[in-house]
Amino acid sequence: MELSTIYNENCLETMKRMPDCFLDFVITSPPYDDIRNYNGFTFEFEDIARQLFRVMKEGAVMIWVVADATINGCESGTSFKQALKFIEIGFRLHDTMIYYKNNPMPQTGNRYHQHFEYMFCLSKGSPKTFNPITEKTKYNGLANMKNRGKRGELLYEKIERTSEKKVGNVFCYSVGGGISTKDKIAYNHPAIFPENLVKDQIKSWTNEADLVYDPFMGSGTTAKVAQLMNRRWIGSEISTQYVEIAEQRIAQYVLDDLFV
Ligand SMILES: C[S@@+](CC[C@H](N)C(=O)[O-])C[C@H]1O[C@@H](n2cnc3c(N)ncnc32)[C@H](O)[C@@H]1O
Repeated sequence: MELSTIYNENCLETMKRMPDCFLDFVITSPPYDDIRNYNGFTFEFEDIARQLFRVMKEGAVMIWVVADATINGCESGTSFKQALKFIEIGFRLHDTMIYYKNNPMPQTGNRYHQHFEYMFCLSKGSPKTFNPITEKTKYNGLANMKNRGKRGELLYEKIERTSEKKVGNVFCYSVGGGISTKDKIAYNHPAIFPENLVKDQIKSWTNEADLVYDPFMGSGTTAKVAQLMNRRWIGSEISTQYVEIAEQRIAQYVLDDLFV
């Protein structure tokens, strides 16, 4: 298959041409119920989920970003149904991560502002790569740890604290015009990823030269970020209009065509 390419077709067609155990990492957000009509395209969730499982390597991770539509006053539950279906197919639900928007669209009516979407972190077996994002601990150096002994007495133990710790599984991003990306052209697509979200997830679950796939490429965010992070990449996008946007957006970053 040709890499550094967005295939303008249903992702099922692209995946059918992929060999088994081909991809190191998948990051994507599918169409959410019928919240947006992406030029009228629908998608066959279960077939796609099964193909994804087949084409991912053992230990590969997939980040599936999704939220529910509210229909007749009730959230659809599609996100949960998809997560459970992935498990049924053979994926591990490795971690239910949260994509927290610092500045969501304000919500009217009797619901709180909708601050988050799910980032289901699914793996085929145990993740083969984990480069955790870390942050500084408040205190570091030697510390007196207190514990209780068998008779309830206080025990002291000197332990060395490290200066860095893993961050939590809620990732916060500011979103919107000029923030999610500086590429103006991307905003011709109605639902783009913040580039930093893709960057954090690619860093966490891949190494340089790994092969990244986005089956719903939209404006090309995954392609751009993967390219800048020296990962190989491939994508599918069913809408010709969005492929054109993505190709214009990433042209300046994509230097070489890679083949396998
Ligand atoms: C939520 S958007 C993805 C946006 C993308 N993450 C970005 O940063 O621009 C979902 C995309 O999936 C595309 N799509 C819908 N059904 C598809 C299918 N079966 N195969 C490939 N793409 C599809 C839509 O046209 C839409 O652009």
